[in-house]
Amino acid sequence: MKIEGKEYRTIWYEESVVKIIDQTKLPHRFIIKELKTVEDAINAIKVMEVRGAPLIGGTAAYGIVLAIQGNNNSEFIKKSAEELIQSRPTAINLKWAVDRMMKKLSGINSDQILDVALKEAKEICDEDENFCENIGINGLRIIEEIYNKKKDTVNILTHCNAGWLATINWGTATSPIYHAHKKGIPVHVWVDETRPRNQGANLTSYELNEEEIPNTIIADNTGGILMQRGEVDMCIVGTDRTLSNGDVCNKIGTYLKALAAHDNNVPFYVALPSSTIDWDIKNAKDIPIEERNSEELSHIEGVDENNEIKKLLIYPSKSKAMNLAFDVTPAKYITGLITEKGISDASTESLKKLFNK
Ligand code: MRU
Repeated sequence: MKIEGKEYRTIWYEESVVKIIDQTKLPHRFIIKELKTVEDAINAIKVMEVRGAPLIGGTAAYGIVLAIQGNNNSEFIKKSAEELIQSRPTAINLKWAVDRMMKKLSGINSDQILDVALKEAKEICDEDENFCENIGINGLRIIEEIYNKKKDTVNILTHCNAGWLATINWGTATSPIYHAHKKGIPVHVWVDETRPRNQGANLTSYELNEEEIPNTIIADNTGGILMQRGEVDMCIVGTDRTLSNGDVCNKIGTYLKALAAHDNNVPFYVALPSSTIDWDIKNAKDIPIEERNSEELSHIEGVDENNEIKKLLIYPSKSKAMNLAFDVTPAKYITGLITEKGISDASTESLKKLFNK
C-alpha cells in the first residue's frame, strides 16, 4: 500500500539485508531500518519495530535467513529458531513461520541452505500478501451488502492495527475496507486509539490517511455509545491466534468491543489468514498472553511544538500499572471469520470444513 504516494511492502530483502519500516517511529517519522543479523530480527520483534501477527511471522522467516548468513552451523540455526519463537509469545504466526522454515531446511546441505531459506521466506511473505488480498475480496461482500441496504456511508469500527502495516500488504481487517474504497463504496472507519501503545491512532489512522480513507480516531471507551446510537454498521478486527473452536485472541480490549457489539446487534467480524489458526490448543486458557512493560502505560510518546519526539510520564510516579497485551473473545460473540478461503462461522465444524481438516 502507499506512503506518500509510493507503494511499499512492510518487509523486503535487498543486498543481504532485511529492510523494515520501523513502526516504533510512526506516525511522526518514516524510517526504513536494516536488519543484518538474527539478533536484529529478534530485537525488532521484541521492541515492536515490526508487529502484527503476520508481519512478525514474515520477520521470523527472514530471521532464519539472517541466522544462516551469520553462521551456517545447524546448532546455531536451531538455537536462533527457538529464540525467534520466544521473542513474542501470543501470535501463533511466529511459531508457524519458524516451524515452516525449519521443516523446509531439514536435510538441505550447507551449500544450498541459504538459497532454500531465502526462497521459503519470500514465499511465506508472498503467500501472506495473497491471502490478505483474498480476505479483502471475501470481506468486501459483507460491506457491499450493508451498503446496498443502507445506500449511505458504511461505518466500520476497528481495534488496534490489523492493517497492511501488521501484515506484508493489504492487512486483514483493513483489506475489505481497502477493497470497498477501491470499488467506490463510501466507507468511514472508527479507529480505536488502542491504549497503551496506540496502534490504532499511530498506525491504522496513519495508513488509512495515506490511502485517503475517511477515518476518525476514538478513545477505546467510545465504541459502546456509538453502537447504541446506531453509528457503527459493523466491526472488523484482526487476531493473533484463533482457536479451532472459533475463540479469538486479539489486542487487549477486543473482548469488550465484541460484548458491546453483541448487546447492540452490530455484526462483529474477525479477519485472518489461515496461518493465524492454532489447530492444537483447545482451551483459550492455554493461550500464552503477553504481559508487557508497565512503562507502555505510564509513559506516552509524541512530538512537541518543534516536532521533537518526547516521552512523558503521565501517572503518579509511585503508582503500579499492569499491562496485559491481549484478551480472548469467545466464539459466541463473533458473527464470522473472514479468511482467504471464504467466510466461516466461528465454530470447529465450519472452520474444519473450510480448511479440509
Ligand atoms: O501488539 P501488536 O501490535 O502486535 O498487536 C497486533 C494485533 O493485535 C493485531 O490485531 C493482530 O496481530 C492481527 S494483525 C493482522
